[in-house]
Amino acid sequence: MGAVQLTGVRKFFGAQEVIKGIDLTVADGELVVFVGPSGCGKSTLLRMIAGLEDVDFGAVEIAGVDVTELAPAKRGVAMVFQNYALYPHMSAYDNLAYGLRRAGLPRAEVDARVQETAALLQITELLPRRPKAMSGGQRQRVAIGRAIVRKPDVFLFDEPLSNLDAALRVEMRSQIARLHHDLAATMIFVTHDQVEAMTLADRIVVLNAGRVEQVGTPREVYHRPANLFVAGFIGSPAMNLLPATAEGGALTLAWGSRVPWPRPLPQGPVTLGLRPDRLSLVPPEAAIASGAVSLVEHLGDESILHVRLDGRVSLTLKLGGDVATRLGDTVHVGCDLTGACLFGADGRNLAE
Ligand SMILES: Nc1ncnc2c1ncn2[C@@H]1O[C@H](COP(=O)(O)OP(=O)(O)O)[C@@H](O)[C@H]1O
Ligand SMILES: [Mg+2]
Repeated sequence: MGAVQLTGVRKFFGAQEVIKGIDLTVADGELVVFVGPSGCGKSTLLRMIAGLEDVDFGAVEIAGVDVTELAPAKRGVAMVFQNYALYPHMSAYDNLAYGLRRAGLPRAEVDARVQETAALLQITELLPRRPKAMSGGQRQRVAIGRAIVRKPDVFLFDEPLSNLDAALRVEMRSQIARLHHDLAATMIFVTHDQVEAMTLADRIVVLNAGRVEQVGTPREVYHRPANLFVAGFIGSPAMNLLPATAEGGALTLAWGSRVPWPRPLPQGPVTLGLRPDRLSLVPPEAAIASGAVSLVEHLGDESILHVRLDGRVSLTLKLGGDVATRLGDTVHVGCDLTGACLFGADGRNLAE
């Protein structure tokens, strides 16, 4: 019913091409997250699916129908925005009922749908209130309710949680996951927050400068990033990306250390990708690098250590919470190659 298909979709603002040819299929009932840095085209792409921006080239299909030229209201989609966009002079009830009344639904059906949606979102007691008498989280729930009452085939969320404080964001995130489960609807969720992407998505679409860098499950984009961009973007703190040369069966790191590589190697320049939790403090003879600690972040159950090596390279280590290391200490860093990634001179993951 609610599958979304994009074929060769492109968009220009003036002479600037902001969406550079995107092919993507979102399956019926799937929750897909678009993630990428600010300005990469996430909102524009979502708005093209909604019908709020024209498609310059290519086609958008929803539920098997070409909607490229169709008005937003005819597409069977409902969009939730970051800034809620509620009618300030109307109660929550009227905000929810507005679109249904305009569509000419009988009063009893409007009331039934509003009550059902309010119960689902646990906002029944808010129905008489106007937006200004609600907290940010309550407003956002009403905004989501306004999408749900319309029973769309596809929900489109554009950074709906970005205006909420951290605790509320986590709570709303689990509520959206529950809604997706309960409604079994297709959802496309835009965020620049990769934790949000990892925790919500069936599949993640990593966007960069108007192009798709990778489409995959959260595990795939984390463990098998397609290229250096995805490797650096997904995961916090970010993956260590170390320039190296492959010679024989080993890598020579930029500062001269040699690391035996357990798999076949193409020869020449490569980049070794090591997640911060694969690095540890070791005796000097077992180290791949030594340097001075430039920053220690104590996060409770874990500590993030930044180690500056000679030159401009810096390593990030994720260690346990009880690290005694101090700023300025010289430390020796060892690595566990389990899950390590290797990227070729063109930036692509050599395991792909
Ligand atoms: N209405 C517009 N007119 C001109 N340029 C725009 C317009 N909307 C967005 N852009 C540009 O298109 C690019 C993508 O923007 P956007 O889709 O909002 O990115 P994101 O949502 O990923 O932050 C940016 O360079 C932005 O400045
Ligand atoms: Mg945006």
